Amino acid sequence: MQDTTSDPTPVRLEDYTPPPFLIDDVRLDVDIRAEYALVTSTLRVLRNPLVQGSAALELDGEDLDTQSVRVDGRLLQDGDYHVEAGSLSINVVPERFTLETQVRIRPDQNTQLSGLYRSRDGYFTQCEPQGFRRITWFIDRPDVMARYAVTIHADKAAFPVLLANGNPVGAGDEPDGRHYARWEDPFRKPCYLFAMVAGKLDVLRDRYRTASGREVQLAIYVEPGKLDQCAHAMAALKKSMRWDEQRFGLECDLDHYMIVAVGDFNMGAMENKGLNIFNTKYVLARADVATDVDFENIDRVVAHEYFHNWTGNRVTCRDWFQLSLKEGLTVFRDQEFGADTHSRETARIREVRGLRAAQFPEDAGPMAHPVRPSTYLEINNFYTATVYEKGAEVVRMIQTLIGREAFRRGMDLYFARHDGQAVTCDDFVAAMADAAGFDFEPFMTWYSQAGTPKVTARGEYDSRKRCYALTLTQSCAPSPGQSEKESYLIPVAVGLLGPDGKDMLFGNEADPEPKTRVLQLLEPEQTFVFENIDAPPVPSLLRNFSAPVVLECDYTIAELAHLMAHDSDPFNRWEAGQRLYGQLVRAAVANLARGQAPEWPMSVLDAARKVLVGSGEPAFIAEALTLPSEPTLAEQMEVVDPERLYEARTGLARFLAHGLEAEFARRYEALAPAGPYSTETEEVGRRALRNLCLAYLNELDRQDYRSVARRQFDSADNMTDQFAALAVLANAPGPEGDAALDAFYERWQAEDLVVDKWFAVQASSRLPGRLERVERLTSHPAFDLRTPNKVYSLLRTFGANHRHFHSADGGGYRFLASQIARLDAMNPQVAARLARAFDRWRRFDAVRQGHAKAALESLHRLEGLSRDVFEVVDKALR
Ligand code: TRP
Ligand code: ZN
Repeated sequence: MQDTTSDPTPVRLEDYTPPPFLIDDVRLDVDIRAEYALVTSTLRVLRNPLVQGSAALELDGEDLDTQSVRVDGRLLQDGDYHVEAGSLSINVVPERFTLETQVRIRPDQNTQLSGLYRSRDGYFTQCEPQGFRRITWFIDRPDVMARYAVTIHADKAAFPVLLANGNPVGAGDEPDGRHYARWEDPFRKPCYLFAMVAGKLDVLRDRYRTASGREVQLAIYVEPGKLDQCAHAMAALKKSMRWDEQRFGLECDLDHYMIVAVGDFNMGAMENKGLNIFNTKYVLARADVATDVDFENIDRVVAHEYFHNWTGNRVTCRDWFQLSLKEGLTVFRDQEFGADTHSRETARIREVRGLRAAQFPEDAGPMAHPVRPSTYLEINNFYTATVYEKGAEVVRMIQTLIGREAFRRGMDLYFARHDGQAVTCDDFVAAMADAAGFDFEPFMTWYSQAGTPKVTARGEYDSRKRCYALTLTQSCAPSPGQSEKESYLIPVAVGLLGPDGKDMLFGNEADPEPKTRVLQLLEPEQTFVFENIDAPPVPSLLRNFSAPVVLECDYTIAELAHLMAHDSDPFNRWEAGQRLYGQLVRAAVANLARGQAPEWPMSVLDAARKVLVGSGEPAFIAEALTLPSEPTLAEQMEVVDPERLYEARTGLARFLAHGLEAEFARRYEALAPAGPYSTETEEVGRRALRNLCLAYLNELDRQDYRSVARRQFDSADNMTDQFAALAVLANAPGPEGDAALDAFYERWQAEDLVVDKWFAVQASSRLPGRLERVERLTSHPAFDLRTPNKVYSLLRTFGANHRHFHSADGGGYRFLASQIARLDAMNPQVAARLARAFDRWRRFDAVRQGHAKAALESLHRLEGLSRDVFEVVDKALR
């Protein structure tokens, strides 16, 4: 494993210089043998015409066993080149030359899952961001782009399928039962988009005809026996292709588009040109093994990787600081795809829920970084909620500020200018600015500053002048390395609700939607005046969550109930409920801290009842009755007491369950499935609400409702309903939980992804004894620390179990730290992701802080700790 803490030198954006050498042609020959793989690479290298001087050639490499180096066919001797600390340098080279290197690598021992590695069904690659250097010597940076021709050799019986990017141009048998295949990619690409596969896989084939009439061959490769779980991913791929043509005028440029699913994968999926490699979790689905959420996630991830073909591959990043150029934009695109193909309002609600649960805490913690970071130790640690989800919010704000049409023109201009190039976030914004004639200068702090801005709103109604003055202020707390913040340009979409609940209209000709106005908050404090307002309004602020900020406004409970019932903006109808629940839970926590019982007003019951029995879409009702998560609520408190927070939040759920028992029971019955399972948006919504009713009823801790859950568990014809019932039982006291868990494992033990759910539901349960349970499960035969999906489902889920991970005796902290230490020796990327569970340790009381600090220090001291975990732990301890 890498011992990199001896050299914790940060990489800085300001140090960027163009590469002194370019590589424009790559020939790779990968010969896979039982003990090793032999990689012969032939590179056409030239000095970069834009860079002066006679710098030495430097190549990146990691864990390579170098056999030979040749320049223009001449074999170099030991003194002609130097290999040291991940780099191979040659001092004197011609202007243009051919460099041939031969290395041995050991994919079977590659537990990091970066570079070329072995999984159960064959050999797979992951090169983003810096895995290619673990395959061959190369200038491993995204602004070096080349054409690739790849030949793979392997045993034919064991690995009948041989794939690489581009088009197949040759294949044949070789002596000793071996065979080869040759692939050529016509598109220049950075090496992080290289991919190859050698395996025993089944394939589902299809075809797609593009808008201009070209035919693309589609293929999804999966583990043998899983072909009946590929149909949904294939449909998602074709839907994404059509959507990108219609919404952005972007067509698929390939003859072959392949997706390969693998069970061992560090992340969700990877957009390698023409050869996406996916975590099985985002490909495989069948109604009896995958939930509605799984189906929807597959849609989104398939779309995400496909959309990268334009936003990421055709136009790529100049350097890794620009990561959000492709990720933020591509998440925005997959969000829009999801909104257009499912329900726009619930899609937005879920995005914001996710942002608050993951990105806001990140932005307030030790790993806070701007959407475009300015420095890093380990780039793998920056595939974050900030770069992805906040990055998508930044792109969304650009669209909100200039409008959909101008945004589309900006996209067109971006591709017209930069197709085939490696560019920066500034280039993207410049295209938007030029297409729209909008000055984005004051907007750029969204890219350069970390932290979630806070906006406060105060309104004043003047009945004599019939006007309403809304004063907005903005501020942003200091974050690591940034003590002073400049102000942001914040689009604040505002509507005003009259006493009748209707939108007041204040449009002028220029404003196409006169009930919502997008204010541009630019100064630390600004007042906006609305005229011809006949009665004191209730302001509906930040409609559709028009900016990723914390909005503070002193709403009364009555005002929130008014918004919940009437706001024409569905997001803010939901948001009013979340505010109300949050206020009540915070007050209850304060009461508990004073030794008093929480108080729950009848008004919250009335508001919730109106939603539950109202005529809204079931999916929306389910969202509106879901309380904010504990981590989200914790962010709103100064010092977090996880026990009281849990007690208060559960107390509110029980109060709602008691008060609305009859309504929950009635809706549960009324929403019973009428026909066979389907993933239609409406059916998905009905199941979501029905399962929410079941969960609320089981807050009452009654045998009859546990029996209802067990009946649903036994009779469900789909995983959504079966798993929802299991989750209810696994959170309920009594023997039913473990009985259901045993039955579930018994039935699904052969389905890896279902076993992951089984681990997760136990790790997230509220029941006591979680630590012991999770500890015990780490030695279950189905658990494997080397498989990221297992680590995520058991250990990361436990790290997110707010009350039990942060238990006062520090047991959760010690346990997770010991697992991180073991895992770091195998897979530093995943170990570092686990370590992020400690991010918010300073927000807890002194006793918990003491335990967390000790656990973090035990990691910090470890000899041979990876750079990945070191960066996370070191920042946490600063
Ligand atoms: N580019 C991938 C995506 O977002 C992310 C990714 C896949 C990745 N695998 C990775 C990032 C491994 C870091 C390491 O679509
Ligand atoms: Zn991506």
